[in-house]
Amino acid sequence: MSLLKQNVQLKPYNTFGLDAVARFWLEINSEQAAIEFLTDNIHGAEPLFILGGGSNILLTGDFEGVVLYNRILGREIVGEDEKHVWVKAGAGENWHQFVLFCIENGWGGVENLSLIPGCVGAAPIQNIGAYGAEIKDVLDHLEAIHLATGKIHRFSLAECNMGYRDSIFKQECKGEFLITRVVFRLSKQPQINTTYGAIGEELSRIPGPHGIREVSEAVIRIRQSKLPDPAEIGNAGSFFKNPVVSAEIFARIKSQYPEVPSFAAEDGQIKIPAAWLIQTCGWKGYRENDLGVHKNQALVLVNYGTAKGRDLLALSTRIMDSVSEKFDLRLEREVNVV
Ligand code: FAD
Ligand code: EPU
Repeated sequence: MSLLKQNVQLKPYNTFGLDAVARFWLEINSEQAAIEFLTDNIHGAEPLFILGGGSNILLTGDFEGVVLYNRILGREIVGEDEKHVWVKAGAGENWHQFVLFCIENGWGGVENLSLIPGCVGAAPIQNIGAYGAEIKDVLDHLEAIHLATGKIHRFSLAECNMGYRDSIFKQECKGEFLITRVVFRLSKQPQINTTYGAIGEELSRIPGPHGIREVSEAVIRIRQSKLPDPAEIGNAGSFFKNPVVSAEIFARIKSQYPEVPSFAAEDGQIKIPAAWLIQTCGWKGYRENDLGVHKNQALVLVNYGTAKGRDLLALSTRIMDSVSEKFDLRLEREVNVV
């Protein structure tokens, strides 16, 4: 186990830019390396944490176990018919680079998910979504290694049980599997998806015809105008999920706040932007030393430099409490607290 490093600083490996030390660190480049490590009983007792791009985690202290840094790479076509191509990608591939690779090849389905930070292997964990698309729309199946036994499992899309920012890997299988490869079903005759209003507006500024490349470029421009770049200000994107409520709960809130924005969700439910709830509670632009709530997007908590993970966690609890008090609604964190 010569590759096992000790006391590795995690600051460069999380987009919040938080200081934390991993007691052990192992870079995993292949399934075989993972299985060898997992079946080596010397390390059987150590807690494990799987790290991808570190763009959806909040480190609240040092990690007293082994961080498995997933670097399993590779992209290959594993199936094809007249309309579709099935592409298998290694979990350690950068997500946005994978999107660009698909666009280069003219394969549609992931262009609306351009510029989401992180790796391919983490994308199914919370069923990444943006601008009218979710990974569940294109995921065929995935391969994962069971951490306790080192056995390889294949999860079909249905078995992944994906919902809004949710999957089996955030529920009953939380922390139990290392996703190693993801197979996507992409379209060879892509139909662009411009249902998300801002994309249409952005596209109307560029001459047509508009294909997946133009959609990707439009999404990139919208994202860059809205979200802080982690290279400049530490953040993990949306800190909370948007609450999805029944028509009755929505009617109650709307009677008190007629201006409440909303979006239709599945099964007649209604999604309320958490950013609006947080902003209405007065938190937008809040700053306390080096931690705060972003001035342009109230859903994004930020580290201006020296904030501590546990203080960001405490701030998130205060925000949740104030939203509860004002709207009688409990926000749920999207970010994975470690
Ligand atoms: P990490 O942060 O490294 O890990 C996240 C979780 O997944 C952890 O619990 C980790 O243990 C687990 N995990 C990681 N890899 C594996 C694996 N191979 N096997 C098993 N478990 C694993 N998300 C969206 O959905 N939509 C957005 O529009 C969006 N925008 C963002 C914008 C910004 C600026 C930022 C910073 C984040 C944004 N995110 C968004 C959140 C984030 O990019 C995604 O959740 C992304 O999929 C996380 O990937 P990662 O590799 O960084 O995961
Ligand atoms: N709004 C406010 N105040 C703000 C910002 C937004 O009131 O400071 C309101 C506005 O009414 C706006 C609405 O919130 O119309 C929605 O805002 P936005 O379009 O920015 O989207 P969001 O709901 O805040 C979600 C995702 C993002 C994803 C975008 C685009 C969640 C938790 N977040 O954000 O995902 O990129 O939509 O599809 O669903 C992430 O998960 O990390 C993430 C960035």
